Amino acid sequence: MSDNSPRTIPQHVAIIMDGNGRWAQRRGLPRSAGHFAGAKNISRIANAAAKAGVKYMTVYAFSTENWKRPKDEVSYLMRLIPHFCQRQVKDMMKHNIRLRTIGRTNDLPDFARTALLDAIEKTKDNTGFTLTIALSYGGRAELTDAVNKLLQDPNRPAGPVTEQTLASYLYAPDLPDPDLMIRTSGELRLSNFMLWELSYAELYVTDTHWPDFSEEDLQKALDAYMHRNRRFGEVK
Ligand code: IPE
Ligand code: IPE
Ligand code: MG
Repeated sequence: MSDNSPRTIPQHVAIIMDGNGRWAQRRGLPRSAGHFAGAKNISRIANAAAKAGVKYMTVYAFSTENWKRPKDEVSYLMRLIPHFCQRQVKDMMKHNIRLRTIGRTNDLPDFARTALLDAIEKTKDNTGFTLTIALSYGGRAELTDAVNKLLQDPNRPAGPVTEQTLASYLYAPDLPDPDLMIRTSGELRLSNFMLWELSYAELYVTDTHWPDFSEEDLQKALDAYMHRNRRFGEVK
């Protein structure tokens, strides 16, 4: 292991949970069955990450571009949100997990938004681990929203905008940047996920479809991260 390898496990893991549709297709099931299995897998992996010592996990669940999918698929995904919240709150309380969201959550249907707000409120004092779900999220939307918030803020710092100032208007400015970004199902792209925050994240892609991504797969990704050489542009 080289001198710059982190050796410790990442503080913040971001995941592009891709491949629900292909997982279902391989089994001759409708895409919705893949989404159901995928939603169930979030708590399994969050609990495993927390146990491994990770503090923050952010999962990409629905992008600003995913609104362009067929109506019935979008509607199924929206109905999964309250289902997930109701099922998971008890588990999150038991494991000291706080739930948050990032994204244009105002665009979600009321029934989904209220379920999320309820789960966020119930878990807000949990301190062991933070699970952030990206919903109606786009990296470009986040940067655009940040600039607009900044322009509308009468208390914004005077003078030229610095990186630090701009970052303070992002959806969750108090979260540290992800150290490791995992994408399941093999695609080698960011698909508009956390464009600002992933600047120096280590990338890990696996062919495993998200519903099959297990505790062992997570451990493999964490192990790979610990052997990476993080230089941040410096000569070390
Ligand atoms: C990821 O799985 C979940 C969402 C984007 C909502 P997909 O639905 O993209 O699954 P594939 O990529 O079609 O297999
Ligand atoms: C990215 O997956 C979005 C989520 C996982 C929520 P997509 O399936 O939407 O990405 P593309 O279309 O393959 O780039
Ligand atoms: Mg996909």
